[in-house]
Amino acid sequence: MATQPTTKPQDFEAFCRETFNPKKEFAKPEVLKGYRVLSCTQYILGPSCASYLAELGAEVIKIEAPRRGEAMRHTTPFNEPFLYPLSKWVPERGTGLGFLGANPNEYFVSIDFHRPEGQALVKNLAAKSDVFVENYRPGTFDRWGIGYRQLKEINPRLIYCWLGGFGGWGPGRVRASYDILGQSQGGNFGMTGKQEFLGGAPAKHTIWLADYWGGMMGATQVLAALYWRDHVSGEGTFTEYSQVHGVTRQLEYALPLYGKHGITRERWGNWDTQLCVHGIIKCGKSSYPQSENPQEMEEGYILISASADKDFARLCKAIGDTTLAGKYAKADIRVKAESQMEIYPALEKWAADKTKEQVAAIMDTNNIINQPVWNAKEVAEHPHWNERGAVRWLDDPTYGELLHQGPAYKMSATPPRLKWALKPVGADNEHIFGNLAGLTPDDIKRLEDQECI
Ligand SMILES: CC(C)(COP(=O)(O)OP(=O)(O)OC[C@H]1O[C@@H](n2cnc3c(N)ncnc32)[C@H](O)[C@@H]1OP(=O)(O)O)[C@@H](O)C(=O)NCCC(=O)NCCS
Repeated sequence: MATQPTTKPQDFEAFCRETFNPKKEFAKPEVLKGYRVLSCTQYILGPSCASYLAELGAEVIKIEAPRRGEAMRHTTPFNEPFLYPLSKWVPERGTGLGFLGANPNEYFVSIDFHRPEGQALVKNLAAKSDVFVENYRPGTFDRWGIGYRQLKEINPRLIYCWLGGFGGWGPGRVRASYDILGQSQGGNFGMTGKQEFLGGAPAKHTIWLADYWGGMMGATQVLAALYWRDHVSGEGTFTEYSQVHGVTRQLEYALPLYGKHGITRERWGNWDTQLCVHGIIKCGKSSYPQSENPQEMEEGYILISASADKDFARLCKAIGDTTLAGKYAKADIRVKAESQMEIYPALEKWAADKTKEQVAAIMDTNNIINQPVWNAKEVAEHPHWNERGAVRWLDDPTYGELLHQGPAYKMSATPPRLKWALKPVGADNEHIFGNLAGLTPDDIKRLEDQECI
């Protein structure tokens, strides 16, 4: 006879809270501890790839150009030296905020890839590493004598992850690429942005989605290659990731639609081509009319999702509209373009005298999925994200207290974690070149004086 449990099982919420408690991250092991990654990366695409591995505990050594470091340190505002100093050699410059978020938990060294002594140093480190990540133009590292073909002679177990614009072969391969180009050529911007009759045009994302997504895909390739090496073949791998192709991979049904029916998917802005209601509407009143930030003084916006017939019926009841409820009761009629062109303006008319919070409260009362469109301040201050460590105050060893994103996922046994946000260029030259590469303090000083490191 089965024994009846004498105590109540822990509820799921309490179980998750205890299992994933961000305060206990550092008491648990790191899943990639013991793996060493060289990150010869710039901007966001390559750096984010390496940083995802660093969040999981890999020892990531970022190699930058001596003194000034990589381009991303110079491409964003707020790079005054008192904020995040650039390097001890260039005291008058700082590191721009764009560098934050793409390089946490890493060691920072500098090497000039042009110089024979610099190239020898890269080989020295690559011989002792598991993974090499770079995102320069195709063949640049090969030209410098430190590409995959040269490094695999030294270390056949090396996993070489190259992230580029268009891939390593083909007529368009040598062009420069950036996130914005990837999203444009990959087909994303062609369907992003408001409809022309709403005054819209193709729109770019403010954040570098193709870069961060590409970095994650690169990290996925690396993990698969590590599995292949460590559990199947014993051998390294050369991987390639095309930023443009990565965007095309996300086009959902747009390519099958074109292939089968010759229909080109169009922009549909803040509405949705497959579901209605499933979009963003404008609320007529600002939530912060006294704000000093002009965009906060603007009207608010809210996402409403009520695409199932019963949800749409409740939505119509909530806004007191019987006409829409009768006319558009069925999803397949509601989703048509001309229907949406009547439904969304009606919702906005109803919301014209309300803030996004007032609309949200009415939607909550009526059990309709909604979410006010939040800005960074609203995200930073929300208790849910703070409690979960998605947003956290980090006691950074170099820069002190700073607000930062935590890793975006949880793992019960081996949680990813945030140790530090960034360091100046070459901050770990002595530690890495001395302890790992075997250079003497005199070697390091000479190479630093010569700007080789
Ligand atoms: C970003 C990008 C456009 C920059 O192009 P680029 O600077 O003209 O060309 P490369 O990437 O081949 O970089 C070579 C240059 O890096 C510079 N460089 C950077 N770090 C260096 C270092 N540590 N040592 C020596 N040179 C260095 C040199 O000036 C070198 O040029 P040179 O050999 O002709 O003197 C290009 O790398 C690219 O398309 N990358 C793939 C897509 C990508 O990741 N884009 C950025 C993210 S959006």
